[in-house]
Amino acid sequence: MRKKVTIVGSGAVGSTAAHWIASKELADVVLTDIVQGLPQGIALDLAESGPVEGFDLHITGANSYETTADSDVILFTAGVPRRKDPVTGKFPSRDELVKINQDVVSKVTEELVKYSPNSIIVVVTNPLDAMCHVVKHVSGFPRERVIGQAGALDTARYKTFIAMELGVSVEDVHGIVLGGHGDEMVPLPRHTSVAGIPIRELMAEDKLQAIIERTRKGGGELVNLMGRSAYYAPASASVSMVESILKDKKRVIACAVYLQGEYGYNDLFIGVPCVLGAKGMEKVIVMDLNAEEKAMLDNSAKAVRSVVDVLGYAKA
Ligand code: APR
Repeated sequence: MRKKVTIVGSGAVGSTAAHWIASKELADVVLTDIVQGLPQGIALDLAESGPVEGFDLHITGANSYETTADSDVILFTAGVPRRKDPVTGKFPSRDELVKINQDVVSKVTEELVKYSPNSIIVVVTNPLDAMCHVVKHVSGFPRERVIGQAGALDTARYKTFIAMELGVSVEDVHGIVLGGHGDEMVPLPRHTSVAGIPIRELMAEDKLQAIIERTRKGGGELVNLMGRSAYYAPASASVSMVESILKDKKRVIACAVYLQGEYGYNDLFIGVPCVLGAKGMEKVIVMDLNAEEKAMLDNSAKAVRSVVDVLGYAKA
Protein backbone atom coordinates (compact mmCIF):
# COMPACT_ATOMS: atom_id res chain seq x y z
CA MET A 1 0.00 0.00 0.00
CA ARG A 2 1.40 3.39 -0.97
CA LYS A 3 1.95 5.89 1.81
CA LYS A 4 0.18 9.24 1.66
CA VAL A 5 1.31 12.60 2.99
CA THR A 6 -0.85 15.72 3.03
CA ILE A 7 0.96 19.04 3.11
CA VAL A 8 -1.25 21.82 4.42
CA GLY A 9 -0.08 25.17 3.07
CA SER A 10 1.59 25.32 -0.32
CA GLY A 11 3.77 28.30 0.49
CA ALA A 12 7.54 28.28 0.67
CA VAL A 13 7.94 25.57 3.33
CA GLY A 14 5.07 23.39 2.05
CA SER A 15 6.15 23.40 -1.58
CA THR A 16 9.81 22.81 -0.69
CA ALA A 17 8.82 19.92 1.57
CA ALA A 18 6.83 18.42 -1.31
CA HIS A 19 9.97 18.67 -3.42
CA TRP A 20 12.09 16.80 -0.84
CA ILE A 21 9.40 14.13 -0.39
CA ALA A 22 9.19 13.62 -4.14
CA SER A 23 12.93 13.52 -4.67
CA LYS A 24 13.24 10.87 -1.94
CA GLU A 25 10.16 9.08 -3.33
CA LEU A 26 8.73 8.80 0.17
CA ALA A 27 4.97 8.93 -0.45
CA ASP A 28 2.13 10.20 -2.60
CA VAL A 29 1.53 13.85 -1.82
CA VAL A 30 -1.58 16.00 -1.57
CA LEU A 31 -0.85 19.71 -1.36
CA THR A 32 -3.56 22.02 -0.03
CA ASP A 33 -3.93 25.76 0.39
CA ILE A 34 -6.57 28.42 0.78
CA VAL A 35 -5.37 30.17 -2.40
CA GLN A 36 -7.30 28.87 -5.42
CA GLY A 37 -5.10 27.16 -7.99
CA LEU A 38 -1.87 27.40 -6.00
CA PRO A 39 -1.67 23.83 -4.66
CA GLN A 40 -2.92 22.41 -7.98
CA GLY A 41 -0.26 24.38 -9.85
CA ILE A 42 2.59 23.41 -7.56
CA ALA A 43 1.51 19.78 -7.61
CA LEU A 44 1.34 19.71 -11.41
CA ASP A 45 4.67 21.48 -11.83
CA LEU A 46 6.33 19.03 -9.41
CA ALA A 47 4.64 16.00 -11.01
CA GLU A 48 6.00 17.12 -14.38
CA SER A 49 9.53 16.86 -13.01
CA GLY A 50 8.92 13.16 -12.27
CA PRO A 51 9.88 11.91 -15.75
CA VAL A 52 13.11 13.92 -15.55
CA GLU A 53 14.05 13.08 -11.98
CA GLY A 54 12.78 9.53 -12.15
CA PHE A 55 10.33 9.50 -9.26
CA ASP A 56 6.96 7.83 -9.59
CA LEU A 57 4.43 9.34 -7.21
CA HIS A 58 0.91 10.72 -7.30
CA ILE A 59 1.18 14.43 -6.54
CA THR A 60 -2.07 16.38 -6.45
CA GLY A 61 -3.33 19.72 -5.19
CA ALA A 62 -6.66 20.81 -3.73
CA ASN A 63 -8.42 23.65 -1.95
CA SER A 64 -10.70 21.34 0.01
CA TYR A 65 -9.97 18.39 2.23
CA GLU A 66 -11.80 15.40 0.72
CA THR A 67 -8.76 14.39 -1.31
CA THR A 68 -6.61 14.32 1.83
CA ALA A 69 -8.59 11.33 3.17
CA ASP A 70 -6.63 8.53 4.82
CA SER A 71 -3.32 10.36 4.94
CA ASP A 72 -0.64 8.61 6.97
CA VAL A 73 1.14 11.83 7.85
CA ILE A 74 0.04 15.47 7.67
CA LEU A 75 2.66 18.19 7.47
CA PHE A 76 1.05 21.37 8.75
CA THR A 77 2.65 24.52 7.35
CA ALA A 78 -0.40 26.77 6.77
CA GLY A 79 -0.31 30.06 8.54
CA VAL A 80 -0.23 33.80 8.34
CA PRO A 81 3.17 35.48 8.60
CA ARG A 82 3.80 38.70 10.53
CA ARG A 83 2.98 41.44 8.03
CA LYS A 84 1.43 44.90 7.92
CA ASP A 85 -2.36 45.09 7.90
CA PRO A 86 -3.18 46.60 4.46
CA VAL A 87 -6.03 48.64 6.00
CA THR A 88 -4.52 49.97 9.23
CA GLY A 89 -0.87 49.82 8.13
CA LYS A 90 0.01 48.35 11.55
CA PHE A 91 1.86 45.12 12.39
CA PRO A 92 -0.10 42.74 14.61
CA SER A 93 1.28 42.31 18.12
CA ARG A 94 2.70 38.91 19.06
CA ASP A 95 -0.51 38.02 20.86
CA GLU A 96 -2.69 39.12 17.93
CA LEU A 97 -0.63 36.94 15.59
CA VAL A 98 -1.02 33.98 17.95
CA LYS A 99 -4.81 34.44 17.84
CA ILE A 100 -4.84 34.82 14.03
CA ASN A 101 -2.90 31.58 13.55
CA GLN A 102 -4.86 29.83 16.28
CA ASP A 103 -7.97 30.50 14.21
CA VAL A 104 -6.38 29.23 10.95
CA VAL A 105 -4.91 26.14 12.59
CA SER A 106 -8.14 25.30 14.46
CA LYS A 107 -10.36 25.44 11.39
CA VAL A 108 -7.99 23.44 9.21
CA THR A 109 -7.36 20.84 11.90
CA GLU A 110 -11.10 20.19 12.23
CA GLU A 111 -11.24 19.40 8.51
CA LEU A 112 -8.11 17.28 8.51
CA VAL A 113 -9.12 14.99 11.34
CA LYS A 114 -12.54 14.41 9.79
CA TYR A 115 -10.86 12.79 6.79
CA SER A 116 -7.72 11.31 8.38
CA PRO A 117 -8.62 10.34 11.95
CA ASN A 118 -5.63 8.03 12.27
CA SER A 119 -2.99 10.34 10.86
CA ILE A 120 0.15 11.64 12.53
CA ILE A 121 0.39 15.43 12.38
CA VAL A 122 3.77 17.14 12.15
CA VAL A 123 3.32 20.84 12.95
CA VAL A 124 5.56 23.51 11.43
CA THR A 125 3.40 26.66 11.67
CA ASN A 126 4.72 29.31 14.05
CA PRO A 127 4.60 30.15 16.88
CA LEU A 128 5.40 26.46 16.84
CA ASP A 129 4.97 25.30 20.40
CA ALA A 130 1.65 27.14 20.75
CA MET A 131 0.34 25.85 17.42
CA CYS A 132 1.10 22.29 18.58
CA HIS A 133 -1.23 22.94 21.51
CA VAL A 134 -3.94 24.11 19.11
CA VAL A 135 -3.64 21.00 16.91
CA LYS A 136 -3.67 18.69 19.92
CA HIS A 137 -6.60 20.52 21.52
CA VAL A 138 -8.77 20.56 18.38
CA SER A 139 -7.86 17.10 17.05
CA GLY A 140 -8.15 15.31 20.37
CA PHE A 141 -5.28 13.12 19.15
CA PRO A 142 -3.03 11.44 21.69
CA ARG A 143 0.35 13.09 22.16
CA GLU A 144 2.05 10.39 20.08
CA ARG A 145 0.33 11.78 16.98
CA VAL A 146 0.95 15.53 17.31
CA ILE A 147 4.61 16.41 16.96
CA GLY A 148 6.21 19.80 16.38
CA GLN A 149 9.17 20.48 14.18
CA ALA A 150 11.58 22.45 16.32
CA GLY A 151 14.85 20.81 17.26
CA ALA A 152 15.37 19.16 13.87
CA LEU A 153 15.89 22.58 12.29
CA ASP A 154 17.64 24.22 15.23
CA THR A 155 20.02 21.26 15.50
CA ALA A 156 20.71 21.37 11.74
CA ARG A 157 21.64 25.05 11.99
CA TYR A 158 23.86 24.41 15.02
CA LYS A 159 25.69 21.59 13.23
CA THR A 160 26.12 23.69 10.08
CA PHE A 161 27.79 26.52 12.02
CA ILE A 162 30.11 24.09 13.83
CA ALA A 163 31.16 22.41 10.59
CA MET A 164 31.78 25.81 8.98
CA GLU A 165 33.87 27.02 11.93
CA LEU A 166 36.01 23.87 12.14
CA GLY A 167 36.24 23.19 8.40
CA VAL A 168 34.98 19.62 8.85
CA SER A 169 32.19 17.64 7.25
CA VAL A 170 28.69 18.28 8.61
CA GLU A 171 28.26 14.51 8.49
CA ASP A 172 30.62 14.12 11.45
CA VAL A 173 29.06 16.77 13.66
CA HIS A 174 26.68 15.45 16.31
CA GLY A 175 24.64 17.49 18.75
CA ILE A 176 21.20 18.44 19.92
CA VAL A 177 19.16 21.55 20.64
CA LEU A 178 16.34 21.40 23.19
CA GLY A 179 13.65 23.80 24.32
CA GLY A 180 11.07 25.96 22.63
CA HIS A 181 11.48 27.01 19.02
CA GLY A 182 12.50 30.56 19.94
CA ASP A 183 15.41 32.67 21.11
CA GLU A 184 15.51 30.81 24.44
CA MET A 185 16.23 27.43 22.78
CA VAL A 186 18.88 25.33 24.48
CA PRO A 187 21.85 24.05 22.42
CA LEU A 188 23.80 21.54 24.52
CA PRO A 189 27.60 21.81 24.07
CA ARG A 190 28.22 19.04 26.62
CA HIS A 191 26.43 16.69 24.20
CA THR A 192 28.09 18.01 21.05
CA SER A 193 30.92 16.17 19.34
CA VAL A 194 32.77 15.76 16.08
CA ALA A 195 33.17 12.09 15.28
CA GLY A 196 32.82 11.43 19.01
CA ILE A 197 35.43 14.03 20.04
CA PRO A 198 33.89 16.48 22.55
CA ILE A 199 33.43 19.89 20.93
CA ARG A 200 35.30 21.70 23.73
CA GLU A 201 38.49 19.79 22.78
CA LEU A 202 38.22 21.28 19.30
CA MET A 203 36.86 24.79 19.75
CA ALA A 204 37.57 27.72 22.06
CA GLU A 205 34.74 28.63 24.44
CA ASP A 206 34.17 32.09 22.93
CA LYS A 207 33.74 30.60 19.45
CA LEU A 208 31.35 27.98 20.81
CA GLN A 209 29.28 30.59 22.63
CA ALA A 210 29.11 32.69 19.45
CA ILE A 211 27.77 29.64 17.57
CA ILE A 212 25.17 29.02 20.28
CA GLU A 213 24.04 32.63 20.00
CA ARG A 214 23.96 32.44 16.20
CA THR A 215 21.86 29.27 16.40
CA ARG A 216 19.37 30.98 18.71
CA LYS A 217 19.04 33.83 16.23
CA GLY A 218 19.25 31.55 13.16
CA GLY A 219 15.74 32.30 11.91
CA GLY A 220 16.22 36.07 12.29
CA GLU A 221 19.55 35.98 10.44
CA LEU A 222 17.78 34.57 7.39
CA VAL A 223 14.85 37.01 7.61
CA ASN A 224 17.40 39.85 7.58
CA LEU A 225 19.15 38.40 4.54
CA MET A 226 16.12 37.37 2.50
CA GLY A 227 13.39 39.70 3.71
CA ARG A 228 11.24 36.64 4.50
CA SER A 229 11.49 33.54 6.62
CA ALA A 230 13.57 30.53 5.64
CA TYR A 231 12.25 27.45 3.86
CA TYR A 232 14.94 25.04 2.61
CA ALA A 233 16.21 23.94 6.01
CA PRO A 234 12.77 24.14 7.70
CA ALA A 235 11.35 21.93 4.95
CA SER A 236 14.18 19.40 5.00
CA ALA A 237 14.10 19.22 8.80
CA SER A 238 10.34 18.52 8.64
CA VAL A 239 10.79 15.88 5.95
CA SER A 240 13.42 14.11 8.07
CA MET A 241 10.70 13.65 10.69
CA VAL A 242 8.13 12.53 8.12
CA GLU A 243 10.64 10.04 6.70
CA SER A 244 11.43 8.55 10.09
CA ILE A 245 7.69 8.02 10.68
CA LEU A 246 6.89 6.62 7.23
CA LYS A 247 9.85 4.22 7.26
CA ASP A 248 9.57 3.43 10.98
CA LYS A 249 13.23 4.36 11.28
CA LYS A 250 13.13 5.15 15.04
CA ARG A 251 15.39 8.14 14.55
CA VAL A 252 16.19 10.17 17.65
CA ILE A 253 15.27 13.76 16.84
CA ALA A 254 14.54 16.70 19.12
CA CYS A 255 10.85 17.49 18.55
CA ALA A 256 8.24 19.60 20.28
CA VAL A 257 6.42 17.00 22.34
CA TYR A 258 3.55 17.28 24.84
CA LEU A 259 5.25 16.57 28.14
CA GLN A 260 3.45 14.89 30.97
CA GLY A 261 5.91 15.05 33.81
CA GLU A 262 9.10 14.42 31.83
CA TYR A 263 11.81 17.00 32.59
CA GLY A 264 9.50 18.31 35.33
CA TYR A 265 6.95 19.88 32.93
CA ASN A 266 3.29 19.11 32.57
CA ASP A 267 0.87 19.80 29.72
CA LEU A 268 3.45 21.74 27.73
CA PHE A 269 4.91 21.22 24.24
CA ILE A 270 8.65 21.70 24.35
CA GLY A 271 11.58 20.41 22.33
CA VAL A 272 13.12 17.24 23.74
CA PRO A 273 14.74 14.19 22.14
CA CYS A 274 12.31 11.53 21.12
CA VAL A 275 12.10 8.39 19.02
CA LEU A 276 10.09 8.82 15.81
CA GLY A 277 8.60 5.72 14.23
CA ALA A 278 5.45 4.33 12.65
CA LYS A 279 3.38 5.18 15.73
CA GLY A 280 4.62 8.77 15.72
CA MET A 281 6.38 9.98 18.85
CA GLU A 282 7.18 6.58 20.33
CA LYS A 283 9.34 7.57 23.26
CA VAL A 284 10.52 10.69 25.08
CA ILE A 285 14.18 10.38 26.00
CA VAL A 286 14.87 12.02 29.34
CA MET A 287 18.43 13.33 29.46
CA ASP A 288 20.45 13.82 32.59
CA LEU A 289 20.80 17.61 32.46
CA ASN A 290 23.04 19.56 34.84
CA ALA A 291 21.76 22.54 36.83
CA GLU A 292 22.81 25.09 34.22
CA GLU A 293 21.18 23.20 31.35
CA LYS A 294 17.99 22.67 33.35
CA ALA A 295 17.87 26.39 34.21
CA MET A 296 18.09 27.23 30.49
CA LEU A 297 15.33 24.74 29.71
CA ASP A 298 13.19 26.23 32.49
CA ASN A 299 13.69 29.65 30.96
CA SER A 300 12.65 28.34 27.54
CA ALA A 301 9.62 26.58 29.03
CA LYS A 302 8.58 29.84 30.69
CA ALA A 303 8.72 31.64 27.34
CA VAL A 304 6.65 28.88 25.68
CA ARG A 305 4.10 28.97 28.51
CA SER A 306 3.61 32.72 28.10
CA VAL A 307 2.62 32.21 24.43
CA VAL A 308 0.48 29.14 25.16
CA ASP A 309 -1.44 31.17 27.78
CA VAL A 310 -2.57 33.53 25.00
CA LEU A 311 -4.56 30.64 23.47
CA GLY A 312 -6.96 30.76 26.40
CA TYR A 313 -7.37 27.02 26.84
CA ALA A 314 -8.19 25.83 30.32
CA LYS A 315 -5.24 23.96 31.84
CA ALA A 316 -5.60 20.19 31.61
N1 APR B 1 -5.83 27.04 4.83
C1 APR B 1 -4.87 26.58 4.00
N2 APR B 1 -3.75 27.29 3.73
C2 APR B 1 -3.61 28.48 4.30
C3 APR B 1 -4.56 29.01 5.20
C4 APR B 1 -5.72 28.23 5.44
N3 APR B 1 -6.70 28.65 6.26
N4 APR B 1 -4.12 30.22 5.61
C5 APR B 1 -2.94 30.44 5.02
N5 APR B 1 -2.62 29.40 4.23
C6 APR B 1 -1.47 29.23 3.35
C7 APR B 1 -1.09 30.52 2.62
O1 APR B 1 -1.96 30.76 1.53
C8 APR B 1 0.33 30.21 2.17
O2 APR B 1 0.38 29.65 0.87
O3 APR B 1 -0.30 28.91 4.08
C9 APR B 1 0.81 29.19 3.22
C10 APR B 1 1.96 29.71 4.05
O4 APR B 1 3.02 29.89 3.19
P1 APR B 1 4.12 31.06 3.37
O5 APR B 1 3.42 32.35 3.72
O6 APR B 1 5.04 30.99 2.21
O7 APR B 1 4.87 30.63 4.71
P2 APR B 1 6.06 29.55 4.81
O8 APR B 1 7.36 30.23 4.62
O9 APR B 1 5.74 28.37 3.99
O10 APR B 1 5.96 29.19 6.36
C11 APR B 1 4.87 28.44 6.84
O11 APR B 1 6.09 27.55 8.66
O12 APR B 1 8.25 27.92 9.40
C12 APR B 1 6.91 28.24 9.57
O13 APR B 1 6.94 30.51 10.42
C13 APR B 1 6.61 29.71 9.33
O14 APR B 1 4.40 29.69 10.24
C14 APR B 1 5.15 29.68 9.05
C15 APR B 1 4.98 28.33 8.35
